[in-house]
Amino acid sequence: MKSHDLNARAQAVMPGGVSHELRYKTPPPIYFERAQGAEKWDVDGKRYIDFKLGAASQILGHAHPEIALAVAQQMARMPYTADCHPLEVEWAEWLNRLFPSAERVRFTGSGTESTMLALRLGRAHSGRDKVLRIDGHFHGWHDMLLKGAKPGSDLPPSMGIPQVVSDLTVVAPPDLDAIAMLLNKDTLLGTVFVEASGANYGSVPLPDGFLQGVRALTDQTGHVLIFDEVITGLRWSPGGRQARDGVTPDLTTLAKVVTGGLPGGAVLGKVGIMDLLSPGETRDGLSPPVSHKGTFNAAPMVAAGAVKAMEILSTGDVQAHADAMAARLRDGFNAVFQTLDVQALAYGESSTCHLFFGGRSIDGLDAAAIRKTPLAVVKGLRDGLQERGVDFMSFTSCVTGLPHTPDLIDEAVAHFHDTISDLVRDGVLS
Ligand SMILES: Cc1ncc(COP(=O)(O)O)c(C=O)c1O
Repeated sequence: MKSHDLNARAQAVMPGGVSHELRYKTPPPIYFERAQGAEKWDVDGKRYIDFKLGAASQILGHAHPEIALAVAQQMARMPYTADCHPLEVEWAEWLNRLFPSAERVRFTGSGTESTMLALRLGRAHSGRDKVLRIDGHFHGWHDMLLKGAKPGSDLPPSMGIPQVVSDLTVVAPPDLDAIAMLLNKDTLLGTVFVEASGANYGSVPLPDGFLQGVRALTDQTGHVLIFDEVITGLRWSPGGRQARDGVTPDLTTLAKVVTGGLPGGAVLGKVGIMDLLSPGETRDGLSPPVSHKGTFNAAPMVAAGAVKAMEILSTGDVQAHADAMAARLRDGFNAVFQTLDVQALAYGESSTCHLFFGGRSIDGLDAAAIRKTPLAVVKGLRDGLQERGVDFMSFTSCVTGLPHTPDLIDEAVAHFHDTISDLVRDGVLS
């Protein structure tokens, strides 16, 4: 198989043979070379129905013709010169219209860069160094927000993070009383970070009213509230979860869908905080007060695709379709669990579907309990589905998008039935 040969070459030149640790797999990962809509093909020509959609970035599907054309035309006209250009203005205007918390926008190179920058702004505005973040929520891979990404652990899941940096990050459960206590007790806390979907794009949903509650609390205490909408931005609604739920953070971090599925990201928020990035402002002798650079910020080749994506996604029709397809997928998976008498649950908000293999409900469970799927199930599910031509996002989660049709969903559910059936037969599931 060509994937095996490619992986042998990759192992010789790349750590673990991969460019992202979650792409590592034994037996070796599948190498893909073509994708269109909700389907993709590996280097051996095998076709897969895709529920990963570029780590949730391609809500419009792979190689959407209008995005592809906009990017191709921009590549021919002016890919990137490191100058100001009209498309970045148009893109920022779109975000200002769509997101309730947007008064100013700054573009970045990725979701991780967005959360790094937002946190620097939070520290500068509050004048306090510590950040409170919620157990299991993911905000990218940088030093300040990695601690707490692994649910149930107060340790950063990486070597190389200085203890002094780690000590500035406080991990809290998604519990308003506990958060209030920490905010009132620790006078060095200045910023609060929340993944707007709940941990891991909603696999651990937030308690009802949590976002409203944390907004009210931080309004009282004066902490800077940041919603990480890297996943939810333009997916939960054209204006993200904040527009859907009517809760406005001080700052918002974005990437993935917001860039039309192209590399990049954005931070947006209140002018009083965002203008710390303006070279026209001076504080403590610094102009701009908060420094931020980045060679590829708002690169025209990305902005062209992003602006086209904003036009298509601003009506909400794509999101409504993707949500309906995810609901069909969840219903199909739950019917399989019923038929095969497996104590498991498919659940999720918006255009997501998550699987829980510890019973028919996740009520009252914390992030560590919800995300603890036995390795044999994770591996059996992934390998069984991939063998049948279905690819999930992160082992037990899926996202849907514009190109998913009822027929594709039903085809995937049939393969899911056969995979789960095998796992029951082999004693991996009961
Ligand atoms: C909620 C959230 N924040 C931040 C990030 C980091 O984004 P990136 O991978 O673009 O650095 C991700 C990535 O999946 C994410 O899901």
